[in-house]
Amino acid sequence: MAPDLKVITTSDGSHSLYHPLLKETYHSTHGAITESQHVFIQKGLAYQKSLGLDAISVLEVGFGTGLNALLTLHFAHQHPEMNIIYHSLEPFPLPTEIVDQLNYAQRIGLSSKDFKNLHECAWDEPIDLRFNFHLLKMKSRLEHLTAGERYDLVYFDAFAPSKQKEMWDISILNKVYEMMNPGGVFVTYCAQGQLKRSLKAIGLEIESLNGPPGKKEMTRAVKYMNEKKRTDA
Ligand SMILES: C[S@@+](CC[C@H](N)C(=O)[O-])C[C@H]1O[C@@H](n2cnc3c(N)ncnc32)[C@H](O)[C@@H]1O
Repeated sequence: MAPDLKVITTSDGSHSLYHPLLKETYHSTHGAITESQHVFIQKGLAYQKSLGLDAISVLEVGFGTGLNALLTLHFAHQHPEMNIIYHSLEPFPLPTEIVDQLNYAQRIGLSSKDFKNLHECAWDEPIDLRFNFHLLKMKSRLEHLTAGERYDLVYFDAFAPSKQKEMWDISILNKVYEMMNPGGVFVTYCAQGQLKRSLKAIGLEIESLNGPPGKKEMTRAVKYMNEKKRTDA
């Protein structure tokens, strides 16, 4: 049964959701759009583009409100030279009554149709939402994902380790590692020491970057081009 999710307004005026069973919000209360834009778009997508990657495949862990997908679609609008394949996992899609309340499209400057399309398109069927934005929403848990795809960028946006510990287990992180292309980038808002140790142990190169408002740091991890730095995890 779907938990009784509540729409909340964060410090930058954008909405997020409060999950009463987990006692956790979907985004930082210091600004949902500000956080997603900083962690996933600036430090992930824009970073890969700055290194010359214009054709990019993204895996998102946790589609949730669709905010990261919408910001990525916005980036595709702004950069027509890019081609973005966007795969997103979500075992618990949100009810339409909740999605309809979210103010992301207006605040980002996209049409509400763009946001509706993201949510209303079918699960587990690829769709071209723009000539340069190709979406596949997978109604699945990361643990159960069997696809043989490889990704250039991973938005790891699971609930915090204190709330959903299993998502941050080294075996799950290793599974994500296996799905990354050499040179692939993993970004997350989380900056826990244990996470960084696990990412290092599975063979990623860690960078601690400035976090969004309210967070000192975030984590970016890069897969070596030749995968030779890998140690036994
Ligand atoms: C912190 S929220 C962020 C969601 C989304 N990125 C957003 O901006 O709204 C975490 C999301 O992960 C989803 N999730 C929970 N368990 C999962 C699993 N095993 N595999 C993939 N996603 C999961 C939750 O349902 C939730 O939508």
